[in-house]
Amino acid sequence: KKVVLAYSGGLDTSAIIPWLKENYNNCEIVAFCADVGQGEEELVGLEEKALASGASECHIVDLKEELVKDYIYPTIATGAVYEGTYLLGTSMARPIIAKAQVEVARKVGADALCHGCTGKGNDQVRFEGCFAALAPDLTVIAPWREWTMESREDLLAYLAERNIKTTASATKIYSRDANAWHISTEGGELESTWNEPSKAVWTWTAEPEDAPNEAEYVTLKVENCRVTEVNGEALSPYQVLLKLNAIASPHGVGRVDITENRLVGMKSRGCYETPGGTVMMAALRAIEELVLDKPSRSWREQIAGQMSHLVYDGRWFTPLCESLVAASEALAKDVNGEVVLKLYKGQVTAVKKQSPNSLYSEAFATFGADDVYDQKHAEGFIRLYSLASRIRALNSQK
Ligand code: ARG
Ligand code: SIN
Repeated sequence: KKVVLAYSGGLDTSAIIPWLKENYNNCEIVAFCADVGQGEEELVGLEEKALASGASECHIVDLKEELVKDYIYPTIATGAVYEGTYLLGTSMARPIIAKAQVEVARKVGADALCHGCTGKGNDQVRFEGCFAALAPDLTVIAPWREWTMESREDLLAYLAERNIKTTASATKIYSRDANAWHISTEGGELESTWNEPSKAVWTWTAEPEDAPNEAEYVTLKVENCRVTEVNGEALSPYQVLLKLNAIASPHGVGRVDITENRLVGMKSRGCYETPGGTVMMAALRAIEELVLDKPSRSWREQIAGQMSHLVYDGRWFTPLCESLVAASEALAKDVNGEVVLKLYKGQVTAVKKQSPNSLYSEAFATFGADDVYDQKHAEGFIRLYSLASRIRALNSQK
């Protein structure tokens, strides 16, 4: 037996290594870690740590550009936002991590995949949903659903009994997940919805009240519903995101605090920081305002609603996902232009926008005289548009 473990170097996945060996016939364990932009701190010394815990190999795979280009951009082009507020940062990263993990499993000839998600969350469903679509032949092991350990103290004692060193401490208040797009924070005082998040919850963004008193403007170029330039500088998808994170964080932009419906039925409270992503979304929506006509815009919103559930619920590798993405890419062809956004104390506002595909025409919209819109034509339009109402009312008068 050979198992590829999605490994982060944290306490949970460190304990999983000896546990797998003891409970799965002394199997060989290959540690796998996806670099999705979670930050250098989580990656330094990772290989040594994995080997010290008993893994035979450690594979760190750089997925940063691919994450933004092939997962985040197609998703945000649809406009997907879960339950009105969550920009899906953790959800969008799961499919690419699962895919890379399967690729490592194929390369090393493994017969099982293992993850450290709990049995109460969304992530287990997302990983295993992707594994089912990509590698139905591989066994999946989810230790949190099997072992009897419940707390960090239990895990630390388990490692200590086996003389495996760890730098983890018994007290870790929050559960966090970070990638280039966002950082999520759950647990601690957030478990009561009657607690305001303390300052310690927020790690990327400034407190809006401490943000500069001067607004900052940023100019973005948008092509096919992708941001391709920041303040005149052409950048790769991942570099655009890094740059916008750096610009937006000091202004406290991109914080949300929501109580969401998990796929497994329970509600949970989470605080999410998505500084650059929030700016990007604002820019894309600003261009859409100019270029999408009423039925196209309404269709785009339906796609967004469907896509938000699809991504949250872990159904990335499905024909439905391909179909929603194809529909949104057809609309994205017109989403080109330039936007100036104003960042100020937690807010981002698109204050200037223009597009070569704009349907907005000053000549048509003006309240002054124009020669393209004859007001007399509106009379016949309204007669026919309201015909059914007129007939219904006449019937009731009979
Ligand atoms: N509630 C969010 C989601 O389901 C964030 C989950 C964070 N995951 C984690 N392993 N800390 O997408
Ligand atoms: C977990 O339970 O493993 C993290 C939270 C989630 O997946 O929703």
